Amino acid sequence: MKKVTAPEIIEMKKRQDKITMLTAYDFVMASILDEAGTDLLLVGDTMGMVVHGHATTLKVTLEDSIRHTQAVARGVKRAMVIGDMPFGTFQISVEEAIRNAIRLVQEGNAEAIKLEGGSERVAAIHGILDAGIPVMGHLGLTPQSYYRFGGFKVQARTEETAQYLLKEAVELESAGIFSLVLEGIPWKVAKKITESIQIPTIGIGAGPYCDGQVLVTYDMLGYFDFKAKFVKRYLNLKEQILKAVQQYNSEVRDTTFPDLSYSYE
Ligand code: KIV
Repeated sequence: MKKVTAPEIIEMKKRQDKITMLTAYDFVMASILDEAGTDLLLVGDTMGMVVHGHATTLKVTLEDSIRHTQAVARGVKRAMVIGDMPFGTFQISVEEAIRNAIRLVQEGNAEAIKLEGGSERVAAIHGILDAGIPVMGHLGLTPQSYYRFGGFKVQARTEETAQYLLKEAVELESAGIFSLVLEGIPWKVAKKITESIQIPTIGIGAGPYCDGQVLVTYDMLGYFDFKAKFVKRYLNLKEQILKAVQQYNSEVRDTTFPDLSYSYE
């Protein structure tokens, strides 16, 4: 089976093939998402919220990201595995950003990294690319700026901020990123950016005109209670798990499980 690569993702935009991306944090889920034909698996720092129960993504460490990326990479045959650079791992110096990106690839088995931010990240992006690692950018409602934004708030709502975001996207493209996540921005802004750059945009809460889409897998499966406006629930997994576990509890308590068919002679 042919592995998805960064050059192939750029080609997909040229062919106008839509790109699918989902988040993954563990082996079993990664293998299912891969088997279903998802192009990109992001080991997102949303793991801090949906796996570890924090209120934001800011608590995630490089060790968390490496460990979950290792598990995801073991489950994947075709999809490209993208490791997320956690808060504090790429802002302090270019040298640290390069070292940490290398650890995500060397120890975590990531095939690319993603980092949040615009022109202030260009030097780090150059350094990481020089190390041979493809970089995915991330603009708009970047969750690591939670405190600066004053919460998870839609960005680029004014003409001025929309223009600024477009300029940032163009700068990231010139820096050499292979794709760009656009999160939590008006669809018209995402459309304009998508039409203005040659690399693919991957939207989340950014409307239908991006070159691809990403959702947090736990959100789209209905496994996590939080539901933003942009999330379509394809399953109500929490309800199904609740029913199954309630039935298990009741069968153990009334001794209907296990009967002898689940027992060794
Ligand atoms: O961390 C994450 O899961 C992300 C996606 C929501 C794009 O950054």
